[in-house]
Amino acid sequence: MITLGLETSCDETAAALIRDGREVLADVVSTQIDIHRRWGGVVPELASRNHVVQVMPVLHEALTRAQLTLDAVDEIAVTSGPGLQGALLVGLQVGKSLAAALNRPFVGVNHLEGHLLAARLMAEPPQAPFLGLVVSGGHTTLYEVPALGTYLKLGTTRDDAAGEAYDKVAKLLGLPYPGGLPIDQLAQQGDPEAIRFPRAMPEREVLDWSFSGLKTAVSLHLKQHGVPQGQALADLCASFQEAVADALTRKLQLAVKRKRAKSVVLCGGVAANSRLRALAAERVAEEGARLYLPPLSLCTDNGAMIAVAGYEALRRGVTSSFALDADPNWRL
Ligand code: KG4
Ligand code: ZN
Repeated sequence: MITLGLETSCDETAAALIRDGREVLADVVSTQIDIHRRWGGVVPELASRNHVVQVMPVLHEALTRAQLTLDAVDEIAVTSGPGLQGALLVGLQVGKSLAAALNRPFVGVNHLEGHLLAARLMAEPPQAPFLGLVVSGGHTTLYEVPALGTYLKLGTTRDDAAGEAYDKVAKLLGLPYPGGLPIDQLAQQGDPEAIRFPRAMPEREVLDWSFSGLKTAVSLHLKQHGVPQGQALADLCASFQEAVADALTRKLQLAVKRKRAKSVVLCGGVAANSRLRALAAERVAEEGARLYLPPLSLCTDNGAMIAVAGYEALRRGVTSSFALDADPNWRL
């Protein structure tokens, strides 16, 4: 069973081919970061236009790497939300056209379900039930997953997503977009206790987060002290990174304890963060649970995660009609 996964919800054009929902045959990602960087963030119109240019070459590259032709594809899975409307429409039209031409099942996938199920491509994949924390540029949400296909929201951010906080703070510091990786790299040379940034919503009753106050605290610090250089910059990055990782994993640990979870999945672009990975491993282990950390290439946006979610949906008998539209605000 070969599943094609297409992803065009934001600024990555991605296509992947997987076998039997487990084995990645090809996973091609063309990023538009260089196009958006000069604007300091994703420009929706530019994203759509570049998906149009890239989607067919990316698809052909995936087929070439997998040494397959289109008629070997048994199922087509495409991100249909959430994301940028125009960007989503590109992948969706290509997916529908292929499914119609090849007469194969077509599945519209929720991007967040894709992130949650990326861990299924690990050598030892997590089995439901598990807790899944999606931390990306647009989302910071904790789900309880009693069975694949059922996602119960336990907590979410009240304002900015964790990745958004990284990107905004990077901008304040004059670092390139997207800010996660450059801050992470600087932070590894810095002292996380140099500056005590606030941890919002410390209450143990709620499993929600808030990151806009942290961004404001960094901004105030910069107004008072100026933008630091050298070691002081590394110290600021480490202190900010510690605040994000501490806040995220404190609530995660609480949820693991409360739900007596045995398996936990950390996913989404921010799950590539070195400190978050280390602290999550520590705190999840304290509760006697096992943490599943997908490799970095499966954390940031890719087609393989969409293919897995599409494969699992089809196994449950779920397919989509060609009337399916892009849903920019689709909630999981
Ligand atoms: O999942 P993703 O690729 O796209 C969305 O669905 O949003 O996540 C992108 C986000 C960006 O905000 C980026 O700054 C962040 O992930 N990111 C990181 C790291 N690598 C990427 N954040 C912190 N540390 C990293 N190493
Ligand atoms: Zn994503």
